[in-house]
Parts: sequence; structure tokens; C-alpha cells
Amino acid sequence: MQDPQENSINPETILSKGMFHRLFPNNLVLTPQLNEVYELALAYYESKILTEAELVQNGAYFARVGNLFTNHYLMCTGESVRLPQHSSSRLKSFFEKNQFRTGYASHGLFPYRGKFHPQMIKALINVMGLKPGDTVLDPMMGSGTVPVEASLMGVKSIGLDASPFCRFMTQVKYNALTLPIKPLDLALKKTEKIFELFSHVTGRPGSDSKIAKTSNPAPKTVIHESTTGSGSSPMDQLADLIGTDKSEVLDFLILAYLDSVGYSERSKRKSPLTLFQAILERYVFVVKKIQHVLQDSKSNIATSAILTGDARSMELDDQSMDGIIFSPPYSFAINYLENDEYHLNFMGVNIDQLKEKMVGLRGKTVKEKYKLYIEDMGRVLSECARVLKPACFCTIIIGTNDNQLSKALGIPKDQVNGLHKIIIDLATNHGFSPIRMLSRQISGIANTMRNEYIVMLKRLQA
Ligand SMILES: C[S@@+](CC[C@H](N)C(=O)[O-])C[C@H]1O[C@@H](n2cnc3c(N)ncnc32)[C@H](O)[C@@H]1O
Repeated sequence: MQDPQENSINPETILSKGMFHRLFPNNLVLTPQLNEVYELALAYYESKILTEAELVQNGAYFARVGNLFTNHYLMCTGESVRLPQHSSSRLKSFFEKNQFRTGYASHGLFPYRGKFHPQMIKALINVMGLKPGDTVLDPMMGSGTVPVEASLMGVKSIGLDASPFCRFMTQVKYNALTLPIKPLDLALKKTEKIFELFSHVTGRPGSDSKIAKTSNPAPKTVIHESTTGSGSSPMDQLADLIGTDKSEVLDFLILAYLDSVGYSERSKRKSPLTLFQAILERYVFVVKKIQHVLQDSKSNIATSAILTGDARSMELDDQSMDGIIFSPPYSFAINYLENDEYHLNFMGVNIDQLKEKMVGLRGKTVKEKYKLYIEDMGRVLSECARVLKPACFCTIIIGTNDNQLSKALGIPKDQVNGLHKIIIDLATNHGFSPIRMLSRQISGIANTMRNEYIVMLKRLQA
């Protein structure tokens, strides 16, 4: 007869065995702050798909492999993003809590709504089987998390966005990885003069800082005008101040200025000049820190083509991409043009024309918006299928606003399928097969969406 004790559960036996060794080899140490289930899942897939050398070089969720610290760990340690002294304690604690997820390298430059966690993108690039030398596409790159992260990993990239401001911002963040330091140090000594030059062109930032749509053609000049002329334009004066007319350096200063204008609209506690000084100081710190880390690592920054373009009809060859990662607007949850109005006007962009290209912004009523959104996303997915090599992966990160969908579809909220499922069905009609879906919580009190989904699709053979 069987001993009744034999089958009983003994907590001590179970607890003494631990759990992590079942998931990971003993020599792998996870990064600090890894506390979400999707992160653990991605770490698990990384440990199964990458060699130890690859984990050291490009792993996202490991701090050490044996005695070797990973590049990711080294990139994220040291002083975290240097925030202006008067930053809210909420912002400070966000960066502390997310030291390994976001804010490292040049990812922390410029706040952009809907920005990816770069650590997650790094892991996705890995688990999709992309290797240095391959090419990944983000057809809706926003603030450029995919191109910047891929470049750090030695993976080539193409980033597109309909918004010229996104192209500008991404290019600056990419260039920041290799920007010359000397003119930046000079710029820090002359912030007041630089601020004066910019505000002379745009009107002084502050509570009335919205640039009128048509009244001021000068901002366009700031970005596009040649700096090699006779020496009297604002850009020529700026070039004289910092001892270079390299457009990468000038654009970097412009982004810091635009960032400070956005800040001064939200916070009235400090003068726009004080904010510009603090933000530029932080920007320069970011460049120095990442370049210092890159100097010591063996990584080469991969090339990236950062372009303005329409994801619904891409000027890319058939079957030319090894992988695609993107996050479309979550139906019509965020109005990206309203958010970026100041910056787009600064660049002289015609916002009404741009609106016609923006997925999620076309149409008037909720029903019409939804219909056009689905139509546009069908075109985006069909283009993704065309440019992706067979058997390669396309990963889409998407959240669902069931309140909006319930109104658009005219059905009760509890019968709404969720945008992620609608997109999976659409993708299936365009030659993709779903491989895995992970859900992640969206934090932040202001968010009406609770979860977003990482949807991994495989391109079927043609
Ligand atoms: C959710 S955001 C992407 C954020 C990005 N993943 C990041 O890390 O910053 C969606 C982006 O899609 C862009 N977009 C909307 N319609 C587009 C289109 N037709 N073609 C290309 N980009 C488009 C928007 O400008 C916006 O930047």
C-alpha cells in the first residue's frame, strides 16, 4: 500500500528548490527591475535563442553571463538621465524605476507619447532572430526607438513616419550617438545667446508659444536653410557661436529648444530660458555618456535610413526586410498632430495636408474614423507583407480602447473583440500567421487603456 505521506505536498521541499533554474541556466543573472511577466517571457526566449556571446553583446534582460557584464547593463548603469533640478519627484522616480527599460543611450531625448520601452525592442529584435548586418523596418517609427536601438545592436534599420517632425527627432537621436562633443561644450557656455537666436526666429516661447499656422514662415528657414552663405542668417550666427556649421549639431540644439518650449507650456514655474539651459545640459550629458560607453564596447553603430514616408505605400523593394517592428496609432486614441502642432509649425509643415496621411486621424464621425482606420491598417499590413522576406517576423505592439470601439461598432463594450484581435484577423488576410502574443500592462494614471499587446506574426511563404 502507498504511504499517504508520499504524495502530500511538502512546502519545504518545493521552496528549497527555487524556480529560476527551471527557466534559466545558473550563470545568467537577470537585469534589476525586471518585474513584469512579459519581461520574464522575453528574457526566457532570449536565453533560448541567443548564444552566451550574443547575450553579452546584445541581450536585453540580462545583467551578467557568468562573470561578464552585458553591454545593456553597462549602458544603463552609472548616473541615470540627468534631469533638471526642479523636475517633479514623479518624473525623477519614473527614470529611477525604469533605469534599465528606458532613458538610456539617446532614447531619453524628447518626450513622445506612445514611445516604446527600448529594452523591450532590443529583446524583440533578438527573439525575432535578427542578427548584426540584417535590416529591420519600423514603418511608423514615431520618436525612433527601433532605429536607434537597432543601430546600437549593429542591426541596420529603416525608419519611416508620415510626420516630418518624427523624422527630424529620430535623426537627431541617431546622430547623437556619434556627435562631436566640442561644439556642444561651446554651446553650453552660450545658451543665452542661442536661446535668443531661436526665440527671435520663432517668437518667444511661454504661455503664448503656439506658432501661428501661416503667419511666420521663418521657422522653416531655421531648419532648411544652408549655413554656408554670407553669414547673416540665424543659422549662420549660430554656427559662428559654436564653431561649426555641421547640420547634425545645429539640429541637436534645435531639438533641445523645441523640447524646452514644450516644457514651458506644461510648467510655468521656470522661465523658458532656464528650462532651455537645463534641457540642453541634459542633452549634452546624454551624448557624453553614451559615447563614453560605446568607446569601451566593441559595438559598431549600424546604419539607419530615417525617412518621411507613408506606411500605406512604401518606396521599398519587395522582400527586402529581415524583420518589421512597429506600433500603429491605437485606433484614434492620440492625436499626434495636435500634440506636435508647435513643432510641425516650426518646421513649416502644412498640418491639414499631413492629416490626410495620418492613420487614425482621417474621417469625421467615430464610425467613419473607424472604417478608415481599418482600411488604412489593411494597406499598411499588405505593404508589410510585400516588403518582408518570407518566413520572417513582423511584430506589432498595439493597445485597445474598447470604449471607443464600442461606439464605433455600435455594440456593447463587453462584446468588443479588442483592436489587437481585429488586427490579427486583418494580418491573417494579408499573408501572416500569428506565432505568439504577450500582453503588458500600461502604467500611468491618465491612461484609459490597461493593456497593450505584443503580437508576433510570421510572413507565410508566398
Ligand atoms: C504609436 S506611434 C509610434 C511610436 C514609436 N513606436 C516610438 O517608439 O516612438 C505611431 C506613429 O505612427 C505615425 N503614423 C501615422 N500614420 C502614418 C502613416 N500613414 N505612415 C507612417 N507613419 C504614420 C504617427 O506619426 C506616429 O508617430
